[in-house]
Amino acid sequence: IKPRRPIVAGNWKLNPSTRAEAITLLKLLAANFLNNRNTNQSADTPETVIFPPLPYLSDAVEILEGTGIQVGAQDVGPNEKGAFTGEVAPSMLVSAGCSYVLLGHSERRTLFGETDEEINAKLHKSLEQPSLKVILCVGETLQEYENGLLESVVDSQIRKGLDGVDPAVLMNDRVIIAYEPVWAIGTGLVATPAQAQHAHVAIRNSLANMYDTEVAGSVRIQYGGSVTADSTEELMGENDVDGALVGGASLNADSFTRIYDGA
Ligand code: G3P
Repeated sequence: IKPRRPIVAGNWKLNPSTRAEAITLLKLLAANFLNNRNTNQSADTPETVIFPPLPYLSDAVEILEGTGIQVGAQDVGPNEKGAFTGEVAPSMLVSAGCSYVLLGHSERRTLFGETDEEINAKLHKSLEQPSLKVILCVGETLQEYENGLLESVVDSQIRKGLDGVDPAVLMNDRVIIAYEPVWAIGTGLVATPAQAQHAHVAIRNSLANMYDTEVAGSVRIQYGGSVTADSTEELMGENDVDGALVGGASLNADSFTRIYDGA
C-alpha cells in the first residue's frame, strides 16, 4: 500500500460550451459517485476533484454536494481585491465552495505566456487561504524530452514554482504536483508507466534536494496526459504515481468514473 492517498482530478479546460451541458455532465457524475462510491470518505479511496470553467463552479459545488467530489478552479490571480479587471482572487474561489486550484498548466504557460514567477505569486496567494490546496503542473515539451532535458526542466519549474514555500506546507499536503509531459497532452500519446515513473522520481529528487527526503516522500505527484480508463491502473501501479490529472476523458462521466475506479 502506498503511503500517499491517490488523487484523481478532471480538468475540463474550456468545455463544455453551455451551462446546460455542464449541468448534465455534473448530474451524471453525481449519480455515478452517489452509487456505491464513497469517495473522500476514507483514506483508502482516491480523493477526487473536478476543475470546471469559472461560470460553472457554483453549479458544480451545488450538484456534487454529498458525492465527495471536490471542486476547483483552473487558474486564479495573485491579487486579493480591487482594480484588477478580469481577475479572480483565491478568497473568492473559497467563498464559492472551491477547495482546489490548478496552477501552471502548460496551456497557461505556452498559450498565455505565464512565467514561473507569476505562477509562484499565485501559489503564495492561494496558500494564504487555509482551506485551499494547489495542484502545481510541471512538464517538458517534446523537444526538451528528445534533448534529454526532462530532469532539468522539471527541476527548474519545481524550484521556481515552490520558491519561498515552507516545508510544513508540503508536509501538510497543501500542494500536489502534476507531471504533465506536454507531448502527451491531448495527443492520445500517453507516457508509458515506466516513463511516468522515471519523471516522477526526477520530481521527487528535485523536492528532496530543495527540501529533504521526508518532504519529498510526502508530496503527491499525479500524472496527466491522455489518461484514459484503460491506462489508469497500469500508471497507478508505479510506486511514485499517486494519481491522475485527466483532461479529455473527464468530459464523459462514465470515463471519469472508470478512471476513478481504476485508481
Ligand atoms: O490537465 C489535464 C491535461 O492537460 C491532460 O489532458 O486531454 O491529454 O487528458 P488530456
